[in-house]
Amino acid sequence: RTVFPFSYNCSRPLTRKLYSTTTTRPLKVSVLGAAGGIGQPLSLLLKLNPYISKLSLFDIHGAAGVAADLSHIDTSSDVQGYATENGGLERSVQDANVVIISAGVPRKPNMTRDDLFAINASIIHKLGRACAVVAPNAIYLVITNPVNSMVPVLKNALAAGGVRDSRKLIGVTTLDSVRASKFLSQVKGASPETIRVPIVGGHSGATIVPLLSQSGVQLSEKERDEIVHRIQFGGDEVVKAKAGAGSATLSMAYAGARMTNAVLRGLSGEVGVTECAYVESPLYTDQGVDFFSSRVTLGKEGAEDIHPVGLINDYETGLLETCLQNLKKSIKKGLSFVP
Ligand code: NAD
Ligand code: LMR
Repeated sequence: RTVFPFSYNCSRPLTRKLYSTTTTRPLKVSVLGAAGGIGQPLSLLLKLNPYISKLSLFDIHGAAGVAADLSHIDTSSDVQGYATENGGLERSVQDANVVIISAGVPRKPNMTRDDLFAINASIIHKLGRACAVVAPNAIYLVITNPVNSMVPVLKNALAAGGVRDSRKLIGVTTLDSVRASKFLSQVKGASPETIRVPIVGGHSGATIVPLLSQSGVQLSEKERDEIVHRIQFGGDEVVKAKAGAGSATLSMAYAGARMTNAVLRGLSGEVGVTECAYVESPLYTDQGVDFFSSRVTLGKEGAEDIHPVGLINDYETGLLETCLQNLKKSIKKGLSFVP
């Protein structure tokens, strides 16, 4: 499994020669919320990504400093920081191939992700309206919580600006996959790189449905129940440990960089790149669920193929039913948002 198709060995120059099977083209990636807890380490990881020629950082506070800092790193990409003044948001996303949104507020202990809805929906909507005008062809990756509702909010904001390509709107659920590999590897004493667990549904508690039966790892019922709970509520562990200082940032930056890399590989013409991601999906529209995370194949147009969940057992069918009931409400809330 390739997480990053390049070496972190600093004595070796990072080079695009590694991608002989793909067409390389200069790609611009913009991060909105770039000076935040996720934005900074994510931007650092993106500065190391050789697919990116332009890295554009926007935040309402502090993006210029983060950009100046990163711009001294000896990789090829140019880094620019933008503030709100002088049309900074619009300039930051102009001609972007990928726009990553981590702008917004994180949880504190005893909060749910849904408690962030009102404030983050306003931010996402505002960003979406501006981006639709200047970056209508970009692929949008939404990190901001609650992801289950923010992706529908962004869909409407982009659509209000005439941007309607559902393949280019993607909610980032990669952290759930990352956690699943790690937690399962700890229980089984295996290497996490060898374990892949499809995670379907959404990104919040009971909407996170790990398909452990497809991982090839044998578990007792007790192990299964504990692991499923840990994957569904992994975010709470970090929120609790950070004790009021926010939620997962570093593991999220890693997960966001992995998802972005997959999108860039698809954009560059590599075939067969798949990740689980939360997209507008035909899989459960008959149950009133228009957005759903499952394995998607990423290509030149974004999320080009959406794969069904595949063979699942009775236990997972039960998880999926609960997921769909919850997801339906979160999606409705997002689509009904009026700024
Ligand atoms: P943070 O508060 O550290 O950073 C957020 C940044 O957004 C800040 O720098 C802030 O200035 C900026 N911001 C606020 N309004 C903005 C606007 N209108 N335009 C541009 N920038 C703006 O928070 P964080 O820890 O980086 O988390 C960000 C979001 O990501 C939260 O909603 C959090 O819940 C979510 N998150 C999602 C996942 C996931 O798996 N998808 C994982 C972790 C966190
Ligand atoms: C996570 O899963 O870590 C994030 O969604 C942040 C959170 O609020 O738990």
